[in-house]
Amino acid sequence: MYRPVDRCAYNRPAEPMDGFKSGEAMAAKILVIDDDPNVQRLLTYTLKQEGYEVLVASDGAEGYRLWSAEVPALILLDIMLPKVDGYQVATKIRAEEGSAAHVPIIMLTAEREVEQKVRGLRAGADDYLIKPFHPAELLARIKSLLARFAPRDLLVGRPPLGRVLAFYGAKGGVGTTTIAINAAIALHRELGRKVVLVDANLQFGDHRVFLDLGLDRKSIIDVVTAPSIDLDLIKQVLVHHDSGIDLLLAPPSPETAELVTEEHMPQILDHLRSLYDYVIVDIDKRLDEINLKILDQADQFFVVMTADLSCLKNVRLVLETIGHLGVEPGKVHLVLNRSNAFTGISMKNAESALKRTIEFQVINEYRGAISALNSGAPFMYTKADSPLGRSLLDFGRTVDKTSAAMPQPALGTH
Ligand SMILES: Nc1ncnc2c1ncn2[C@@H]1O[C@H](COP(=O)(O)OP(=O)(O)OP(=O)(O)O)[C@@H](O)[C@H]1O
Ligand SMILES: [Mg+2]
Repeated sequence: MYRPVDRCAYNRPAEPMDGFKSGEAMAAKILVIDDDPNVQRLLTYTLKQEGYEVLVASDGAEGYRLWSAEVPALILLDIMLPKVDGYQVATKIRAEEGSAAHVPIIMLTAEREVEQKVRGLRAGADDYLIKPFHPAELLARIKSLLARFAPRDLLVGRPPLGRVLAFYGAKGGVGTTTIAINAAIALHRELGRKVVLVDANLQFGDHRVFLDLGLDRKSIIDVVTAPSIDLDLIKQVLVHHDSGIDLLLAPPSPETAELVTEEHMPQILDHLRSLYDYVIVDIDKRLDEINLKILDQADQFFVVMTADLSCLKNVRLVLETIGHLGVEPGKVHLVLNRSNAFTGISMKNAESALKRTIEFQVINEYRGAISALNSGAPFMYTKADSPLGRSLLDFGRTVDKTSAAMPQPALGTH
């Protein structure tokens, strides 16, 4: 069972940069993957004594899952594990972690042979300890690796990236909300970003349904009806989801939607971008004043589409319209949802009809998408390992890579 946990890297305390002063590494999370209960006990005791938080997995699959769900600061990995061995675990982690991340891995083994050592290092281990080892040696190696790999930009106090990513459906029902919600969760849970999701589909917002939340939750209406909009107010209105992302919900009923005006959006988004790495905005398909204000604020604008004729027609119209409005072409991206569903129009045909590249694709998995919707538990939260989850994660990774590389936006300039 996938255990929902908050794995935002922000929750991680700063790790010591010099690495050798006792007590400085308080509460860094260490994952022990070893099937021997005695070793588990010994390591847990030793590490806890030193102030580390300890997670324990008894086999490779569980170890991999905990790495993915908990983002430990370091892994102690036994080689001879049941089912998936230590080499395979290390290889899989190295293949999965983004280029910006590197969890230090120390391999533990009873073997002395050089060949084993080399194989472990090749699989992606950073260091190697032969059992039995002295706890002092283990701790010294852990501290040294933590110091070496402490990612400076994840240290407490790093300013948020502050990117606004807007998701717009070229046609109703193409999967905009599905992609916005699951991309938000992927950016947080899998990539350690701090994320807020805004349901800007003001009349018929769906996030309460997708995330199983009642109408009693606070919404954007509580922001816009207050005498003035400030950070404290916004923080009080945001709803925290178990997946770790925060939400600014749409009005609870269509008739209250008109209380939100185009003046409100820039203020709200500016406040949010001062707090979060990513402000993900799910907008409806009207190109009205409010949506144009959001588009103006957005660092990236994702037009979600499927490969059918009416959608292609709409994409062309949207691209033309926002071109006339002077929107910078570089920030507009096409996302082909249900990319492998049969529509009679291939991606190549769609690209040549639009005369532009479709940069992103999300696969078709109707059952996965609809059962997540029906149960109110997004697949990126409960089934990140499914094909649809992996497809969304690929999308999130690419978005994160390009967004993080963009220059820091100046707040309040919109
Ligand atoms: N990649 C996918 N594979 C299969 N089904 C999908 C996929 N993405 C979305 N769906 C399904 O498509 C339907 C519409 O999805 P969603 O509500 O996200 O679209 P939307 O564009 O936000 O719609 P609306 O115009 O109502 O806001 C849902 O039933 C959802 O489960
Ligand atoms: Mg929607």
